[in-house]
Amino acid sequence: MATGFPYEIRDVDPETNRQLLRDFTGERTGFLKVGPQEWLLASKYRRLAAEVYNFKVRPDDVWVVTFPRSGTTMTQELVWLVANDLDYKTASKVDLLQRFPFIEFSIVNHDDFIAELKAENAGSPGAQATLDSLAASQVDVLDQAASPRFIKTHLPLSLLPPDLLSAGCKVVYVARNPMDAAVSFYYQNRLLRNMGYVGDFPKYWDYFQKGLVPWCPYWPHIIEAWNQRNNPNLLFMFYEHVVKDMPGTIRKVAMFLGKQMTDAQVHKLADHMHIDNFRNNPSVNMDVLDKLGIISKNEQSFIRKGKPGGWASEFTPEMKESCDKWIEENLSNTDLRFPW
Ligand code: A3P
Repeated sequence: MATGFPYEIRDVDPETNRQLLRDFTGERTGFLKVGPQEWLLASKYRRLAAEVYNFKVRPDDVWVVTFPRSGTTMTQELVWLVANDLDYKTASKVDLLQRFPFIEFSIVNHDDFIAELKAENAGSPGAQATLDSLAASQVDVLDQAASPRFIKTHLPLSLLPPDLLSAGCKVVYVARNPMDAAVSFYYQNRLLRNMGYVGDFPKYWDYFQKGLVPWCPYWPHIIEAWNQRNNPNLLFMFYEHVVKDMPGTIRKVAMFLGKQMTDAQVHKLADHMHIDNFRNNPSVNMDVLDKLGIISKNEQSFIRKGKPGGWASEFTPEMKESCDKWIEENLSNTDLRFPW
């Protein structure tokens, strides 16, 4: 147990680790299982666990917390613009990664992988510094950042500072149905070389159901936040609702952050958030990572289809059947229900 961190961190068993390292080629050392839920995280989390858990929150921090591929990026942009009085000028000039740091980003940027990218980018001094910053702890950056801070994480609530909600931070949690989240994460894990997934989707889905994809297990991640949905400092939303009713979502977020918006402002922001505009917005579509060579060619884009229900074409009838059972089992002890 690391000092100042209450949970056990252990290595995944050697055989599973060998398989995972073969399929997730961005990680080089091995995966960890953390705490009683056995959260699966990359090896660098061992160094970061206590730092994040003991991170000094400030009452005016705004966090976006999600299981990966649940609409994090669009929620970050929406939250940032609402909180910053619709400052589109800064939003277009400063990359979202900088405006809204990803607190555990360093753990998916393995030091060996970053060293390889530095060699690939040997001719570019600017790229060297950016790559170093991707491998370094964002906790230090955030400690030095001016308030109000905007913080993204995929870590579940139980691995975050225990005073997060009681200190007054505003937390927006977005959940997405597990099939679409898994399909979307699969394509993203193929796309991003720091994840470097090389297997097919059926194998990925098998890992996902077994909690062997980074930031899994899926269910406790969602349920921990669902159980806090009545906390006045946590706004729980479903991706499916967000895309169905963007103006309604904007109003909800504005009310949560104590901001007033006119109808015209709401509609302008809804248009800004439209996936077609989002896809072409270099400030949110991971253009920075593309320039560094972290994005693979010939894979689906980071901002992909942006529609609920796309999973159906990826699942065989057998996968769907076992998935239905898995969902039923996991929903039996909770009143959480997805709007699909
Ligand atoms: P798909 O891969 O299903 O298209 P995250 O930001 O958490 O990584 O989530 C990514 C998912 O949100 C992707 O889903 C992506 O296409 C979708 N997305 C991103 N921007 C969106 C937007 N403006 N509207 C709707 N969906 C969006």
